Amino acid sequence: MKKTMIIVVALTTIATASFAQNQQEQKEIQANKSTQQEVKTRAASAMGKGQSNEKMGQPKRIEDSYPLTSNADREKISKMMQQMTVDLLSLFNQYKEAHWNVNGPLYLPLHDYYQEQADYYRLQADIFAERNLQLGYSVDGRYSTISKTSNIPDFPAGYITDNESLKLLIDRVTVLQKQVYTYITESNTIDPVTSNKLQDLAYGVDKNIWKLRIHLQKPGGLGEDLPWKAQQSRDRTGN
Ligand SMILES: [Fe+2]
Repeated sequence: MKKTMIIVVALTTIATASFAQNQQEQKEIQANKSTQQEVKTRAASAMGKGQSNEKMGQPKRIEDSYPLTSNADREKISKMMQQMTVDLLSLFNQYKEAHWNVNGPLYLPLHDYYQEQADYYRLQADIFAERNLQLGYSVDGRYSTISKTSNIPDFPAGYITDNESLKLLIDRVTVLQKQVYTYITESNTIDPVTSNKLQDLAYGVDKNIWKLRIHLQKPGGLGEDLPWKAQQSRDRTGN
């Protein structure tokens, strides 16, 4: 008898709790429905008041949106971009030559580094070639044009020692370095965007020459045979 009473009380408690939970869920569903309805009403009212994007004024049609205002400036920058394109593609090709034909104890690090630099110059060529397109000019990156118009002397054919390959590449990258610095000055005021890209390239070129030069130091040295060290010591002693 006592057991039956306990069961009845327990069942009643469960039923009451379940009813209360159900009531709460119903309230929440109703509240959600009201919120959704309110959002819909507000959106419909906004559309009715002409607040849709479609009704806003449109910008005027712009026929000519090339960068730079003067045709002469555009032409000047375009010539620089064409020159950069062929010189950078030439360096890409020369780094591949060095990557394939280098020999000697430094083969392994140089083989890898030359490939890395070939990739770098190929990507840089793309940046300057496409700047020409942005300025409204086509670009000529054909092999025949590179060989006829590049300012970078060609790389010798055949096997090459590690030491010799470093010197040849320093000489060639230095030709590019001088050209890039001249172009930065010439483009600075008329086309700051191009000048900015040239400055990025100058950073990469300087880094490239520094890394090549480090390989040419005497074994066991601490940089005393770097070319600017002699100048620094002359400046210190005043001679
Ligand atoms: Fe390779």
